[in-house]
Amino acid sequence: MAIAKEQLDSAEKRVLQIVSRYGANEEHLLQILHDVQADDNSLSEAELIQVARAMDIPLSRVYGVATFYSMYSVRPRGKFIIRICESAPCHITGAQSVIRAFEQALGIKMGETTKDRKFTLEYTSCLGVCGVAPAVMINDRVYGNLTPDKVQEVLSACEND
Ligand code: FES
Repeated sequence: MAIAKEQLDSAEKRVLQIVSRYGANEEHLLQILHDVQADDNSLSEAELIQVARAMDIPLSRVYGVATFYSMYSVRPRGKFIIRICESAPCHITGAQSVIRAFEQALGIKMGETTKDRKFTLEYTSCLGVCGVAPAVMINDRVYGNLTPDKVQEVLSACEND
């Protein structure tokens, strides 16, 4: 699919600013992609193209890195990424019922994003807080001891952020 010139132009300025902050050296590619993604939790095709141009490296290399690491997404995602732990301690303490409650409250399935681009549901492995399982991480914040009843409260906290 062709990319509109406006999309490329609007990505160019931001990407150039970020690349100039670190230097166009491939060793900084992970950090550069992290910063480029920070505005909307995803990397658009226009942004990937501009990163490749600004760093003078093949687009396939940039795309390969962006799709290899789970911290990046080339699919549009929401403002809030809800990462629900699916490792064993969370699983046995009720993660599945918490997942169902999030899916129901948001009207989406795991891996999907709400139409208003506010919330994305994703799985994650252990968050390192098994003592308060089941746990989820929403952007940089961890919520533990979750039950289906607490899901609406957690979502409301995000809405008011
Ligand atoms: S298993 Fe879920 S936080 Fe460790």
